[in-house]
Order: sequence, then C-alpha cells, then structure tokens
Amino acid sequence: WWLIGNPKVEQTRQSEILEHARDIVKGAQDLESIAVGYAPLAELLFPVGEIFKGGPVGLGSQRIPWDTGGLHTGGTSPVILKEAGVIFGLIGHREARDDFGEGAHLNKQIKIAIDYGIIPILCCGEPKGSLVESEAVREKDLEAELITALEGFTGQELLQGQLTIAYEPGHVIGLDQPADMGYIRSGFSLIKRILIKHNLEGLAKKGRLLYGGGVNSETIQQVWSLDRPTRVFSGENWAGFLVGRASASPDFIDMMEKW
Ligand code: PGA
Repeated sequence: WWLIGNPKVEQTRQSEILEHARDIVKGAQDLESIAVGYAPLAELLFPVGEIFKGGPVGLGSQRIPWDTGGLHTGGTSPVILKEAGVIFGLIGHREARDDFGEGAHLNKQIKIAIDYGIIPILCCGEPKGSLVESEAVREKDLEAELITALEGFTGQELLQGQLTIAYEPGHVIGLDQPADMGYIRSGFSLIKRILIKHNLEGLAKKGRLLYGGGVNSETIQQVWSLDRPTRVFSGENWAGFLVGRASASPDFIDMMEKW
C-alpha cells in the first residue's frame, strides 16, 4: 500500500521542511504494509534525498521533463532527478496542468520516466471545482486524458515501467472532504474500462490505482474503513493515496499511524 505525499507551496522555510522530512522517515520506520513516498518542492530534492537515502521513504519529483535536454529554460533534467535519488514522479497533476500548462507532453513525460527508471504516477480526474454527475461525460473526459497520455505504449511496457494512475476528482482537490466512495469506485471502474477499450487489459487488471483529493488523517480513516470490506475482493487494484496539503504537516505522520 502506498501513501504518497505531494506537498503544495507553503510559506515554510527549508530548515522546517527538512525537519519534517526527518520526522517522516522516523514515522515510516516500522511500517509493515505501507510504502511511503514523498515528493518535495523541486528546490529541496537533493537535501531531502540525502535524508531519505537508504531509508524507508521513496523520493519523488513533482515535475517530470518531456525532453532529456535541450533549450528549455525553466525545465528539469532527468539525469539530475536520478542523481537526487528520485524513484517516482507526478505527471499531469491537475494543478500543474492549470498553472503551468502541463498536459501537452504527458506521453513524452511517461516515456522519459520509464526510460530513466522513474515510476510515473499519471494523475487524471475532472477539472478543478467541478463535480461531474454524468458517468458518460466523466468517461469521455477521462478517456481523452488517459489515451493521449498512453498512446503508443504497450500494456507490457507500462506495467514494466510500473505506471500508476492517480484518480483525483477535481471537485475535492484542496477540500477537507474526499469524494464519496461511490464516486471514487466509479472513477476507478471507468479508468479500467477505458484501458480495456484501448487494449491495455494487463494494465487495467494489475496496474496500481491511487486515490487523491481531500485526504488527511481524519478522512483517510473514513475512506479506508468505508471500503475495507470490499477493497480486497473488488479487484479494483486500489493501491493507496496521493495526499496533497496534509503531507506538509505532522498530519502525514499521523496518517501512517491511523491507517
Ligand atoms: P489535497 O490535494 O490532498 O490537498 O486535496 C490532492 C493532491 O494535490 O494530490
């Protein structure tokens, strides 16, 4: 089970964030069934990577480049990400799409991540702020997002590269309330249906799915215990959570304990 932290930009100094990173390592020390990952702000990848080195917490990057090099002022280098110790990266996060126009190169970003041995976590979901009632509309939107990102890959390549899909419904990102379980489950089912429709059955069956949006130490129990009886048998490949705001505070460590 994965618990992935994706902190936002807070008015926090470097020293406090590094202290928090040390606390995360301590909190993750004796966990048996939960794998913890943390993707700090880009500026702190190296010092946080030093703290995580050889320990139980995986280092992630909030940005994955879509080129290995070239004329990209403001860009990121996959070589340096690897040097920092990055093992997973977020691709197509709703905020990166809205704020930085990420979305045009998802396919290339996944390719670079896989080529460099970085686990791609492809984020998808409805636009921010919108609760989409109609399943047909949700399916169409998710399909457009997923298929442009995954075009040209075989299921085998994506499974080997450990492509993970994070479903983050836009109406709950940034709230203190996750989507309701029915909505989450239908999101997962739609994703799987779309993958199967596009000949990615293996990924649909075995690929990891994460849920994100409104998860904190209180709500994780709510989501988790609601789904506990059916989770294992539902075949939904639900592999954990992607946590935004709550991962920037001690709440993230509480989550490890409560979950
Ligand atoms: P949130 O954000 O947990 O703050 O709602 C989710 C995310 O950014 O992945």
